[in-house]
Amino acid sequence: SFDIELARSAMTLHVPAGKTILETMREAGLTVPSSCEQGACGTCLTTVMEGEVDHQDVYLNKTEKASHTCMMTCVSRAKSGRLVLDI
Ligand code: FES
Repeated sequence: SFDIELARSAMTLHVPAGKTILETMREAGLTVPSSCEQGACGTCLTTVMEGEVDHQDVYLNKTEKASHTCMMTCVSRAKSGRLVLDI
């Protein structure tokens, strides 16, 4: 499990094992776009401001993944204990 800090929403949420970032944000009342929810379509692309992402998608390329500046919130998680997202 890990925490996500949503910079524009001024909110920090805890993401437990077994729940996605996308689900966690929706449960907190945020409206976030998604489509495939399998890491393939790109709809949930989110800018990462801080932290290391554990990429689980097939949408971003290697360079994008290595940059840790964006992620797909429907499947990917945090490598570090905390991610700061531009949401
Ligand atoms: Fe399709 Fe996340 S909703 S990649």
